[in-house]
Amino acid sequence: MTRYLVGNVSEFEDGQKKIIAVGGKSVGIYEIGGQLHAIRNLCPHQGAELCRGVTAAWVDSSGPGDFRFEREGEIVRCPWHQWEFDIRTGCMVVDPATRTMTYGVTVERYDVTVEEEQVFVHM
Ligand code: FES
Repeated sequence: MTRYLVGNVSEFEDGQKKIIAVGGKSVGIYEIGGQLHAIRNLCPHQGAELCRGVTAAWVDSSGPGDFRFEREGEIVRCPWHQWEFDIRTGCMVVDPATRTMTYGVTVERYDVTVEEEQVFVHM
């Protein structure tokens, strides 16, 4: 597994995303609730840049007329045909067997003269 430096922690603001070319692939890195998540910027439907889509909430329901918005900002909606994917898992909301690739993200800190923590993606 190769690790790629993708930036400093301060570049990943609360709830923000950053789209970066990593190892020849386009990857979206999202900050969600203090954790960083990386997913391939490629929709498995027809190849749109998935991470250019808006983020939304998970909508749960117990039946007609009832709905609740949960996990705000954890779902990305493809800009072409609106398929939705869970950023944490890469799985499509309505068909979890359909997914886009996810990658591990770590924050590494160097203790000698630490100026800033740096973020790595592992592919
Ligand atoms: S290309 Fe993403 S939903 Fe069609």
